[in-house]
Amino acid sequence: VTAHVFNGKAIIQEMRAQIAEDVRRLTERGARPGLAVILVGDDPASHVYVRNKEKACQDVGIYSEVYRLPTETSQDELIALIEKLNADPNIHGLLVQSPPPPHINERAVIDAIAVHKDVDGFHPVNVGNLLLGGAETFVACTPSGVMELIRRSGVEPAGKHAVVIGRSHIVGKPMALLLLEADATVTVCHSKTTNLAEIASQADILVVAVGRPKLIKREHVKPGAVVIDVGVNRLPDGKLCGDVDFDDCLDVAGHITPVPGVVGPMTITQLLSNTVLSAKRSLAKRD
Ligand code: GUN
Repeated sequence: VTAHVFNGKAIIQEMRAQIAEDVRRLTERGARPGLAVILVGDDPASHVYVRNKEKACQDVGIYSEVYRLPTETSQDELIALIEKLNADPNIHGLLVQSPPPPHINERAVIDAIAVHKDVDGFHPVNVGNLLLGGAETFVACTPSGVMELIRRSGVEPAGKHAVVIGRSHIVGKPMALLLLEADATVTVCHSKTTNLAEIASQADILVVAVGRPKLIKREHVKPGAVVIDVGVNRLPDGKLCGDVDFDDCLDVAGHITPVPGVVGPMTITQLLSNTVLSAKRSLAKRD
C-alpha cells in the first residue's frame, strides 16, 4: 500500500480562493484586512518566511506592511513600533517573526502585541484561551493548519491515539491541546522520551515537530496512520527535508505530508485566515 500524499497545491489554492473572496467583500465595505510583519535581523530562513507571507497577502488582496529592521534594533524601538501598529486602524494583524536576535526578550515583545491583533496566537491571553476556551481568540497558525490537514484526511480524531513529537510553544504544546479538544487521546514525546519508536508506532495520528532531519522511520509509524511532518531542515547539499523520512514511511502511512509543500503554505494560509477574521471582528464592532 502507498500512502495518500497530501496535495499541497490543490488544498492551498482552494482555501486561498475562499480567503480572496472574503477579502474582496471586506474591502468593498471599507474594511480591507491589513497585516504588519516585523523582522529583526538577517536570519536567512526568517527572510524567506517573511517574503512568503508578504507574497501570500498580495495574492489574496490583503494590505501588507513589512518592517525589515537591522539586528542592532533595540527592544524599546521594537516595542515602540508595535505600539504604533497596535493603534493603526488599517492593521488588523501584527506579528514579529521568531526568533528575534538574542538581545531582545521575545516574551516582552509578544506581551506588547494587542491581543486582538495577535494573529499568530502567541500572546499569553490567546494561549490561555486555547487552554480554557474563550471568545475572540486566535489559535497559532501551524497547529491550526495541521488540524485542517487532519480533517481533510477524513480521519476523525475523537477516540484516536494522537502522538505529538516536540513540545515547543509554537507547535507541540498548542498542537496537543487542539487534538485533546478534538477528543483524541494525546501523548507528547520530546528529547528526553526513551521509547520513542514504541510510543510513536501506536499513533493513529502522528505529528512531528522537532527539527531533526529524517528522525522518523517506518518503525515509528503504525500502518495506515496519518503522518504530519512539521519539520523543515536544510541538508548539507542545500536541499530541504522534514523530520520524517518520507520515502521510508511512504508505504506504511495512510496519509503523509511531503516537505516542503504542505505544512508551510498551510501555516501561511491560516495566518491570512486569522487576519481576515480580525478584520471581520473589527468591522462588526464598527457597525
Ligand atoms: N517562526 C517560525 N514560525 C513562526 C510563526 O508561525 N510565526 C512567527 N512570528 N515566527 C515564526
